[in-house]
Amino acid sequence: MLFKTTDEHEALRKKVREFAEAEVKPIAFQLDQGNEFPEEIVKKMGSELNIMGLPYEEEYGGAGKDVISYAIAVEELSRVDGGVGVILSAHTSLGSYPIEAFGTDEQKKKYLVPLAKGEKIGAFGLTEPEAGSDAGGTETTAVLEGDHYILNGGKIFITNAPYADTYVVFAVTHPGMGTKGISAFIVEKGWDGFTFGDHYDKLGIRSSSTAELIFNNVKVPKENLLGKEGQGFRIAMQTLDGGRIGIASQALGIAQGAYEAALQYSKERIQFGKPIAAQQVISFKLAEMATKLRAARFLIYSAAEMKHNGERYSMEAAMAKKYASDKALEIVNDALQIHGGNGFLKGMDVERFYRDAKITTIYEGTNEIMDVVIASNIIGKLGKAEHAGAKTAFVAKNDGPITGNRKREIIKADTAQEAVDILVENLKKDGYDFSVGIPVDTPIYDAERVVSVGKGIQDAEHFHLGEELAKAAGAALGGSRPVAETMKLVPLDRYVGMSGQKFNGNLYIACGISGASQHLKGIKNASTIVAINKNAGAPIFKNCDYGIVGDMFEIMPLLAEALGTGEKEPAPPMKKVRRSKPRKLAPNHKVMVCPGCGYEYDPDLGDPEGEIDPGTDFENLPDDWTCPECQEEKENFIEADFPEDRK
Ligand code: CAA
Repeated sequence: MLFKTTDEHEALRKKVREFAEAEVKPIAFQLDQGNEFPEEIVKKMGSELNIMGLPYEEEYGGAGKDVISYAIAVEELSRVDGGVGVILSAHTSLGSYPIEAFGTDEQKKKYLVPLAKGEKIGAFGLTEPEAGSDAGGTETTAVLEGDHYILNGGKIFITNAPYADTYVVFAVTHPGMGTKGISAFIVEKGWDGFTFGDHYDKLGIRSSSTAELIFNNVKVPKENLLGKEGQGFRIAMQTLDGGRIGIASQALGIAQGAYEAALQYSKERIQFGKPIAAQQVISFKLAEMATKLRAARFLIYSAAEMKHNGERYSMEAAMAKKYASDKALEIVNDALQIHGGNGFLKGMDVERFYRDAKITTIYEGTNEIMDVVIASNIIGKLGKAEHAGAKTAFVAKNDGPITGNRKREIIKADTAQEAVDILVENLKKDGYDFSVGIPVDTPIYDAERVVSVGKGIQDAEHFHLGEELAKAAGAALGGSRPVAETMKLVPLDRYVGMSGQKFNGNLYIACGISGASQHLKGIKNASTIVAINKNAGAPIFKNCDYGIVGDMFEIMPLLAEALGTGEKEPAPPMKKVRRSKPRKLAPNHKVMVCPGCGYEYDPDLGDPEGEIDPGTDFENLPDDWTCPECQEEKENFIEADFPEDRK
């Protein structure tokens, strides 16, 4: 590990510092106040400083420097303005790196060269309403149709949007396969159906731009697939490892700026007849700050050096990001404290640094996720056997569907009408009376029944189908979070989910909802869940009592008709219906049981933790597969003999 930077590093630091002092500092307050993206400054960062592609090869437009050089550039910009620092960080390590690391030569020539030269700006589209820390919860889809993928969905909190020209976007190409079903794409601003939400009004880093991406049937040419199908999650994770070095550097720079301001102020501010720096209480604060800065800098440069040398560095990057950002919050707090009341005033750099620092503990993986990454590097993956036959001490129990034990009766019928008739008959048998109803605007929390629409509804034009079905079912109307937040089809107080409204009533009819975990957590108290979705692999089907796999635009009107579109009598006060138990019949396949713990292998479910797809027969499991509950070896499993009442 390097304990001292080279002369070349320090020359670069000097160059970036002079630029930041001359070009950014004079307008930093104005950018902050106006929530203004510094387009001219960013152009000069490419054309004058040549820092927009620092760690990339000259052949692809880069400056051919090492990762420490990139960290120094982010640090020095952030020392003056944390917003400008993250523009460079997100552009280099999130928007450009995946193309450099996973792109074909053609993709690099077309996209990386202008990015690295600073002629274009890059961004990274991973985060979604239901996929923040749980990045594998991605719901945006990309469906291959001929020579194009059709991209639908949306991304939130995207740094550099809408100013960026090139976006690396993650979408599900193989539903139901979790992280293995996600792929990465290069998407260009300006393509039909690709639009932006509003630029957020943020607490800090206000000179950087952050906006939503909206994809509505965007045609992405097949050649813009980055890496292979299904590699997307790994690409995202590997990209974020490097991104975290950038955010750590941003935190370090902000803290350095705050520390220097406090040091200077403490030498100038006279109280009790001497500079406050001469008070031990202040001098010790400064000593603490300087020590934290030095430790953070070493962690960052050592992770950067490991990345540059091609060593594994995920854990070191996570440590650097966590430490530098946690310490940055302490340092900006102390710096403002040293400034006293003056530090609390708008226009003072420390006031801005105080606000700018907070985001560094949140984005590119919260510091809690950094602990997950560090711990899993130290301990290994909890709940996952690392190699064949491994008897790991940490075995997490598979808790099954999020909504609990459900009937999961997927209705098989020749026509949509027949499927709807079977569904209505079943619901009536379960005791639902569709001659009564509640107003569609009943608060979700109090509603006995809810019809909820998801992103499958597509647009406002089709929304009437939800309203008509809710009236026919005597139900209140709700929606998934994207339908409320992004599509704005239902008010925010009507979206159902863990972070929204919880449904506690009896009947929940989910139309065009795929079943993100956040949503499922919000409906787990429902007595009966009905799912209508054209994607048979959607998680909602594992969490429902009755499901119809089909086109919601066809099923919803048929269901409304079958439930009766006439006026409903006011429903009596709600009585909670008991959940009907799934019928436990002997399956028509051979059941293999673990002799150790009694676990039954179910081919319909596969073993998601062990990466075994649903539909895999026991015979076809790999020889080194082991029991997910107790790690018993496959060859020791025995065939179950079912009692007569389960046959
Ligand atoms: N490098 C390469 N592969 C990796 C990896 C890494 N660092 N981390 C995980 N993987 C691989 C795993 O090996 C695994 O592969 P196999 O299935 O073949 O074994 C696969 O990815 C899945 O890994 P996990 O089972 O560990 O995945 P998980 O679902 O449990 O998630 C997590 C792990 C660490 C919590 C991850 O979801 C994560 O990092 N979450 C935080 C997301 C994040 O940082 N978001 C920030 C958004 S971007 C942003 O903020 C930008 C901005 O504005 C500036």
